[in-house]
Order: sequence, then C-alpha cells, then structure tokens
Amino acid sequence: MVAAPQDGWWREAVCYQIYPRSFQDSNGDGIGDLEGIIRRLDYLNDGTHRSLGIDAVWLSPTFPSPMADFGYDVSDYCDVHPDFGSLETMDRLIAECHRRGIRLLLDWVPNHTSDRHPWFLESRSSRNNPRRDWYIWRDPKPDGSPPNNWRSVFGGPAWTFDEATGQYYLHSFLKEQPDLNWRNPDVEAAMLQTLRFWFERGVDGFRIDVIGRILKHPDLPDNPPNPAWRPGDRERFSQLWIHNHNYPDVFDAVKRIRRVFDEYPGRVAVGEVFGSPAEIARFYGTAEAPGLHLAFNFHFIHEEGHVVTPWEAPVLRRIIANAEATVPPFSQPCFALNNHDRSRFVTRHNYDGRGYERARAAALLLLGLRNTPFIYYGEEIGMADVDIPPERQQDPARFRSIGRDPERTPMQWDSTPGRGFTTGEPWLPFGPLSPNVAEQDGDPDSLLSLYRRAIWLRKELPSLSRGALFALGGDDRTVTWARSAANAPAVAVAVNTSAEPASAALPFDAGRVAISTDRSHDDARVRGGRLELPPLGAAWVVASL
Ligand code: GLC
Repeated sequence: MVAAPQDGWWREAVCYQIYPRSFQDSNGDGIGDLEGIIRRLDYLNDGTHRSLGIDAVWLSPTFPSPMADFGYDVSDYCDVHPDFGSLETMDRLIAECHRRGIRLLLDWVPNHTSDRHPWFLESRSSRNNPRRDWYIWRDPKPDGSPPNNWRSVFGGPAWTFDEATGQYYLHSFLKEQPDLNWRNPDVEAAMLQTLRFWFERGVDGFRIDVIGRILKHPDLPDNPPNPAWRPGDRERFSQLWIHNHNYPDVFDAVKRIRRVFDEYPGRVAVGEVFGSPAEIARFYGTAEAPGLHLAFNFHFIHEEGHVVTPWEAPVLRRIIANAEATVPPFSQPCFALNNHDRSRFVTRHNYDGRGYERARAAALLLLGLRNTPFIYYGEEIGMADVDIPPERQQDPARFRSIGRDPERTPMQWDSTPGRGFTTGEPWLPFGPLSPNVAEQDGDPDSLLSLYRRAIWLRKELPSLSRGALFALGGDDRTVTWARSAANAPAVAVAVNTSAEPASAALPFDAGRVAISTDRSHDDARVRGGRLELPPLGAAWVVASL
C-alpha cells in the first residue's frame, strides 16, 4: 500500500492531528519527537482493522523555533527543530508514512515568524535595512502610543516599540511573533519557496496557520469597538476585527498560494480559518480560481455567540446545514471536534459527568458527515483536559487568555509511570492513568474500538466515504441525515443529544444498524423508518436494498 500522488485523495481521507511534543518520546527527554512518531505509525494504520485506519497525519509545527509559542514562532521554515529530530528523520518519517499509505501534512505558519528569524533580525537592525519592509513597521502616534488600536489575539496591544529604531512592529499574536508584510512581493515569493522545499521532499500538504490574517487593510485603520462586548469578556473580542481578519485581499493571496500546491500533484492545503459559514466557504475560492482545498469548520467546538458549542440537536443541525449550504460543490466541509487550542471535547461536555458518552456519539457524527474529518491525538481514547499546577504551566498565552496546556498533555499509551510516552520526565504532567490505549485496545466496547470500527466502516461504505448528504432532519432531541453514493446502499446517521431515549425518523424504511454507540444494538434490523436511540446515543443504519 504505497501513497501515490493522486489528486483528490483528501476527499475520502480521515486525518489525524499530532502535537509532536506530546505523541511519543524516543530519547527520554520528555518531549515527543519524529522518531517516536515513526514508531507509532502502525497504531495509526498498519493496513488492518487492528489499527485506526488513518489516511493522513498533520503535525503541528516541527521547524526550528525558540518555542515562544511552541513552534508557531518559526525561525527557519526549511529545517527540523533538534527537539524533534533532523531533516534526515523527517525524510524517514515521510517514507515510513508513505509505505503505509499515510499522507503527511506539515504546519505552515505564513502570518508571522519568530522574532529570532534571520529575516526579522535584519529587519529590526535599522530603518534602511533592505528587509525592513518584510515586516510591518510604523511610527508612533505623536503622543508616543501605538499606530492603531489593534489588540493581539493573546491580549494586549498588537504593537511593540523597538527602542533602537524608534518604531513599532505589528504582531497579531505574541511580541515574539512579528507579522510578515505580505504586501511586499519578495516576502510572498520567499514564503512560497518554503512550500516548494517541502513538496520536493515529498510532503503531501500543509495545514495553514491563521491564513485569514496574512493581509491587513493597507492603511491599518483602527478597528471599531464591539458593541456586544462586556467587561469581563475576553479582551480580544472588545473590537470588531474588520481590518485585520479575513480582509478581502487575503482571498486573492490564497489563490496565489494554491497555485504553488498545484505545481505538485496530489498536494492539499487545509486552512485554519475563522468566521461565519459564508466566510469559511470563501476560502475555497471558485471552480475557475480555486483557493484552499479545505478550510476548517470549528463550529462544533466554538462559534459566534458560543464560547463552547452546546451538544444540542438543533445547534448541530444548524451547523451542518450551514456548511452544506455554503461550501462550494467542488469541495466539501472539514470538521474537527478537538485541536491543540481548545479544551478537549470530553471536558467541554462533562457538566453532568457524561462527557465520555457524548464523545462516543460525536465520533459517529464526525465520521458520518460529508467532510474530511480531523481527529486530534487522544480524542480516540477520550482524553480529557488535565489540570496543570501553576509551576508546570508552559503556554505563553496563559498570561492574557486561557492557557492551552490542559489539552496538550502527552498521549496516554498505557498505565506505566511514563504512560508509554517517555522514560523521562514529561514536558507536561500526565493525566490520570485512565484512559489509555492499552486498556482500550482489546475491549470491544471502548471508545478506541468504536473509532477504529467507524473509520474502517466509513472506508467500506462508499455512501459514507464519498456520498452526498441529504434529508438532514430530526427534532429537539435528535439530528439525522443520510448519505448516498451511486451503486451503493444509502446510510443514515442518527444522533440523540438528549439524556432521554429518543426515536429518530430515518429517510428510508428498512435497514440494519452498522454501528452504534451501544454495541448491543449493532446488526439490529430497522423497520418502519424509525430507530430507537438510547440516551446520548448514535448509530449508522445501512438501508436494505
Ligand atoms: C493558530 C495556532 C495556535 C497559535 C496561533 C499563532 O491559531 O493553532 O496554536 O498559537 O495560530 O500562530
């Protein structure tokens, strides 16, 4: 099973996000590394149903970096951080992935570099350095204050004053992450060259970090205040990001970036984007001038108006309907339930102690939708946020907004003191002994077994891997839809978000339960177009021909 370049492979792929520091340590320094990932590839896909069946892996940044934002501050886009390995290890990882039919995506951070990147060191060295204009420098206002009112995503002003040259530079995130000036064509050319570097080495694509911020309003005007903001709300929401987020010029740049992907067959661009369904859809471009192949939809995690999206049928239905209505027909949505920036699903939905049950239903929701799903490492065993004592906290963003350490703790492979992750002291503390992979591995009722079976079933049922979505419906308790591909039986998906049993109406009369959150329902015959679901349960039903 070798991954040959094949356009469109990502349409049927199930993807897996690895936070490299936390997946598998191979040298006992307590930090995960590429060698460790190589050792665990069979867990992801060894070609048999004993493995998860993952088709593509996305690695959060692996490049040299001072780690002010754990790799999202890149100091060299064309190398590997020594904590993770070397270019040689990366080449082997690419080869070992491809040998198993797994594609490898890296994380491209185009909006900003590290303040230690040689480009920035040159840029800040003097006002007339040839690279001065590679970043966004402006004079102070007459009273010495920053050039405009923009706030950093992590809180505080988005500008830092440089004493030596008497100007401010812009940073949408930490002051150690100065924003590149994408209006300078040399910057764009240099950044596009870094994509080619990795494509030449065989990388199959990139997740693209905060792509919606790479171009700002050229005049950098103040953002207006957000009338809905109340003291106590997160500071970054105090203004409307009109001039520095999803600014219209971004969408043209995305199309130029796409053309570099198209120079190499079978490569995929997946953008980290934020906004309304229509804004997300805009990142895909048009059939004639395509943008990203895929743009993340995080609305199951958070959406405007909800810091945490509630697990409620009408809300889920609206999110699905909006994505179906807006993403252009030549592509498809791209959902995730978790990532390295947000509280984990089990924790978000554990207010009544039943987060783990909801996670089982969520797996069947995610894998039952028309989309390219992304699973975050540990999601498949139900890892929860871990409380990190103050002296062990690491995330630099914790000072001004919520720290992200709890959702980044090491993968729990077993219940040994090092959890199978390390022989040393882990860079972040472990969670409780359970959950872990070893305890779930042979247990047919475990969440891990549910993920494995659902992923392989999805591959075996063409309606799920590539079918259209239709008959989205349900009621206050249930959300239901069906998928259908040519020459294959339709498959219905039904999710009960309520803590009571519920009866779901299916868009066909008779079928068989292919998989369910409660294994005793598997294989049950369905007649009369109705499916009885247990509290918080979900199931896939294959229509009888
Ligand atoms: C993205 C990343 C996040 C990072 C930020 C700045 O949102 O997912 O982890 O801190 O960009 O690069």
